[in-house]
Amino acid sequence: MTSDAWDPSRYAKFGAERAAPFFDLLDLVEPRPGMRVLDLGCGTGELTRALHERLRARETLGVDRSAKMLGKSATFVAPGLRFAEGTIESYAGDAPFDLVFSNAALHFVADHESLWPRLAALLAPGGQLAVQLPANQDHPTHGAAREVAAGPPFAAALGGWVHPTHVLPPEAYAVLLHRLGFARQTVRLAVYTHLLESPESAVEWVRGSILTEYESRLGPELFPEFLASYRARLLPRLGEERPYFFTFKRVLIHGAL
Ligand SMILES: C[S@@+](CC[C@H](N)C(=O)[O-])C[C@H]1O[C@@H](n2cnc3c(N)ncnc32)[C@H](O)[C@@H]1O
Repeated sequence: MTSDAWDPSRYAKFGAERAAPFFDLLDLVEPRPGMRVLDLGCGTGELTRALHERLRARETLGVDRSAKMLGKSATFVAPGLRFAEGTIESYAGDAPFDLVFSNAALHFVADHESLWPRLAALLAPGGQLAVQLPANQDHPTHGAAREVAAGPPFAAALGGWVHPTHVLPPEAYAVLLHRLGFARQTVRLAVYTHLLESPESAVEWVRGSILTEYESRLGPELFPEFLASYRARLLPRLGEERPYFFTFKRVLIHGAL
């Protein structure tokens, strides 16, 4: 049983840094008049609002499974923009869309080989798919979390679960888009760099994203202990450099039918 550990205020802590790849992804989208847009894993909806306005979309629907993140979305509702609770993997309603967009969310969903055909099937003729995927799983921030999760007492509490890597190599997305009939495509691996106050800030960063998955499974009794073990394992690997230069790889993907 997992609980909803997403915390909008913690996620917003690095808001400007997290928004940069969103706008880079948006720049890849070819605007068309009167678009119908679906934003999967929309979070609080703040960036969905920016998407809706920048594209002057006729209709935009943001979908997210976290009631806590969506709790903020009322602030961002606008004419033609609405939000609904649901999962990316089971979303099947309201198609066709001119654009299926997803910023930093599909990496939480398994089996992209079967997910992407389902996303493509939501598109109207000439439709576009635009996806940004964090791909930093080989950074110590991720490795240390996997190692702590695999040791006692957490492995037993997690039933052997370790945050999985669902993200495929960038070229696999190029092949997927080709097979799905996208006439034009861009697949780009980008390294975003962030000058954080200290190595401890990198802990805060992942605390607002992948560590939420551990928190939701471990619960309030065991998660503080997990976090302490994680810090103890990670911080020596990051060194003592202040400010801390944090590198973050992401894949930006756009396809047009
Ligand atoms: C890193 S946040 C990104 C939010 C937003 N797209 C943005 O760019 O600010 C990831 C979001 O994906 C949502 N999410 C994760 N797995 C999901 C799933 N299987 N179905 C729907 N939403 C999911 C989380 O609840 C969270 O709001």
